[in-house]
Amino acid sequence: VIQVQPAGGRAYPVIAGAGVLAHLPELIPPACPHVVLIADDQVARVHGDRARELLAARTRVSLVTFPAGEVHKTRATKEKLEDRLFAEQVGRDGLVVALGGGVTTDLAGFVAATYQRGVPWVAVPTTLLAAVDASVGGKVGVDTPWGKNLIGSIHHPLAVCIDVDLFQTLAGSEVHNGLAEMLKHAVIADPGYFDALLHAAHDLIQLTPAACLSAVVRSVEIKSEVVSADPLERDLRQVLNFGHTIGHAIELLSDFAISHGRAVAIGMSVEAAIACQLQLLSAADLSRLRTALRALGLPVSPPVAMVAGAILQATARDKKGRQGRPRYVLPRRIGEMSTGPAGYAREVSDAVVIAALHEAQACSA
Ligand SMILES: NC(=O)c1ccc[n+]([C@@H]2O[C@H](COP(=O)([O-])OP(=O)(O)OC[C@H]3O[C@@H](n4cnc5c(N)ncnc54)[C@H](O)[C@@H]3O)[C@@H](O)[C@H]2O)c1
Ligand SMILES: [Zn+2]
Repeated sequence: VIQVQPAGGRAYPVIAGAGVLAHLPELIPPACPHVVLIADDQVARVHGDRARELLAARTRVSLVTFPAGEVHKTRATKEKLEDRLFAEQVGRDGLVVALGGGVTTDLAGFVAATYQRGVPWVAVPTTLLAAVDASVGGKVGVDTPWGKNLIGSIHHPLAVCIDVDLFQTLAGSEVHNGLAEMLKHAVIADPGYFDALLHAAHDLIQLTPAACLSAVVRSVEIKSEVVSADPLERDLRQVLNFGHTIGHAIELLSDFAISHGRAVAIGMSVEAAIACQLQLLSAADLSRLRTALRALGLPVSPPVAMVAGAILQATARDKKGRQGRPRYVLPRRIGEMSTGPAGYAREVSDAVVIAALHEAQACSA
């Protein structure tokens, strides 16, 4: 059990382990008359019945599903879910349980944030990414045609229940999304965790529950420490964007054919090369990072067909940018990010970014 302490809010537990789904009912307040279990149809098929049966031993349960996929993380889906809650006569004393990946925790958490001015919710992340990233920090929301996550709120769950056994049914491509964020947590905060990830790489790719558990626990600790130290995203929290300035640009340019995790992996490789160019990071640490990325089955080079200038241009659309200038958070060694005069995020000259992109493109072999 890890206690997460949101600034100005009530601390809540994250329980993680193999088989802990069995304890889900204990996380529901005894007086709660009605639980709405929200899952996408894919997750509902593999884990929905078990979760519903467990909860049904405690209270009344309605299972409500929506079609799987990021394209359904929308205001329209939220409205449909809300209509289902009204049809099921869920009152203000109801509770939402989100069972699924980050799409489900973001969407169901946002439904809980506004339904009858807000009802409590419990997150049961079923992807590595949702466990180490989406379920910590309290951000909930939906996408719009104008961009991702542009409508949303902060609504912390009552509790988070991470059963590493549920990851067994994940597709391989989903695993990489989680591994990239885990390695990011290690690079920004903990060299020991970095070594542990490297040594456990094979077991992690195989989703061995014990390996997943120790990594998930360390990642949740790191993300929650960073988030509670800087709830308003003034400075420190930006370290969580390591790999994401270049990563988002690559995701965008590929038209999302390159998954978030793989794009962030390439982003970390390029941004570490930027840190190297600026003599913030040693060449040895850059090469250790790439060794770890490769060990985790992640890419280190932008696709050769992507022109460096086009990637650079796409970074200008990054949300951290001030007046269209993208900003970077850069490591000074494995386990520690560098700070400059303006804090963790800094602007980098186009020439340095281009040089780093070329260096990373050339290192593929
Ligand atoms: N709130 C935050 O702070 C935060 C942080 C990071 C990411 N996110 C959001 O998370 C989303 C991505 O999350 P994701 O990668 O988990 O995507 P996802 O929820 O779409 O899950 C990926 C796919 O895996 C399936 N799936 C999930 N768990 C499964 C299981 N155990 N077995 C079999 N199949 C399973 C789902 O049905 C889906 O098709 C994005 O929308 C992103 O914006 C939010
Ligand atoms: Zn990310």
